[in-house]
Amino acid sequence: MNDSVLEDLSIDPKRLVARIEALGEVGAIPGTTGCARLALTDDDLAGRDLVVTWMRDLGLDVTIDGIGNVIATMPGFAAGNRPVMTGSHIDTVGTGGKYDGNLGVLAGLEVIETVIAAGLELDRPLAVGFFTNEEGARFQPDMLGSLVYVGGLSLEDALLIQDRDGAVVGEELDRIGYSGPAPVPGPTPHAFVELHIEQGPVLENEDITIGVVEGVQGISWTELTLNGQSCHAGTTPMRLRHDPGYVASKIVTFVRDLTAEFGEPQVGTVGAINLTPNLVNVVPSVATITVDLRNTNEAVLQQAETKFRGFVAQAAEREGVGVQTRMLARFEPVNFDPRVIKIVEQSAAAAGLTHRRMPSGAGHDAQMFARVCPTAMIFTKSVNGISHNVTEYTEPADLEAGANVLLRTMLTLAGTEF
Ligand code: GLV
Ligand code: MN
Ligand code: MN
Repeated sequence: MNDSVLEDLSIDPKRLVARIEALGEVGAIPGTTGCARLALTDDDLAGRDLVVTWMRDLGLDVTIDGIGNVIATMPGFAAGNRPVMTGSHIDTVGTGGKYDGNLGVLAGLEVIETVIAAGLELDRPLAVGFFTNEEGARFQPDMLGSLVYVGGLSLEDALLIQDRDGAVVGEELDRIGYSGPAPVPGPTPHAFVELHIEQGPVLENEDITIGVVEGVQGISWTELTLNGQSCHAGTTPMRLRHDPGYVASKIVTFVRDLTAEFGEPQVGTVGAINLTPNLVNVVPSVATITVDLRNTNEAVLQQAETKFRGFVAQAAEREGVGVQTRMLARFEPVNFDPRVIKIVEQSAAAAGLTHRRMPSGAGHDAQMFARVCPTAMIFTKSVNGISHNVTEYTEPADLEAGANVLLRTMLTLAGTEF
């Protein structure tokens, strides 16, 4: 693709924003600008149907695989001509925004529409996908669809995963009609690039438009079930208690202290605590608690995990509480392909946009594709660095800038041999 073609080409920001708004209406949380489309719920189904309609309206070949990933590819290319793929997810956390994931999918669609409208002849097709249950808010692990796509987890095992109410992935996929015939692992793309909002404050603080993402930090998710002795809150002397709620609270404090001890970039979060029976005058019998630890350095993340496990064992033993541990997700840090990183950087520069290299703090589908093909990511600003929150927002000019960098990157990748 020569430079003059790229110079004249840009995405239609109004069309992009209109689609983001329309998809954001699906599962909209009343009184907010956010939405809730947990994976494989009826709202996810409605969002999927809307995006698939847009894909079909563009004349794309749409496939659905056994884990419900949807891929739309430009038609008219020889079989076996591997696409330059982009994509992300359209599931959201329960209190999410309309940009996380959705931007990557709808910007991909926008790029393809722009290329088709311009009548460009490409060496390879472009494709855009959305991948099932990226968030991991309902089913764990996160990035489930892309993990299965690249062969990191068998379809058989993935279909058996349950949410906390016992709903099963395979049954939910059948229920919403998104268990498709396309095989997994799926065909390897020529290259993969994902546009996403930053979800953090770095670009905004430095007044830089584009993040050139070099990799993703490692993720460790653990669920602990602490089993104690339920008893009367008034009559049971403190020295005789086996209180799992007390141990859970110690773990919350420990996780924060651990991050202080390790320093940046170590982060740690207790995002969910549940006490049973959760009543004012009953010492709980069971506490369940989730712990999310992340670091860009695998060795340091492992040290954090070791300290964390040691603390849990000790705190539980002291209180006479049993512990069951379940690993919900564990992904090592990922480094993206230097050649694709460079192309993203050059695309941002050619579009006249300020840019900087940076790691991703969040998990993304692109990190799964990095296992099988040259991959990188593009970030755009998040206002106030806020995400996984209904107030998540990205300015239209930043959406446009990110999508134009995606356009240039995909077209360059289409003409690049690896
Ligand atoms: C996915 O959104 C994550 O938790 O990083
Ligand atoms: Mn996301
Ligand atoms: Mn997210």
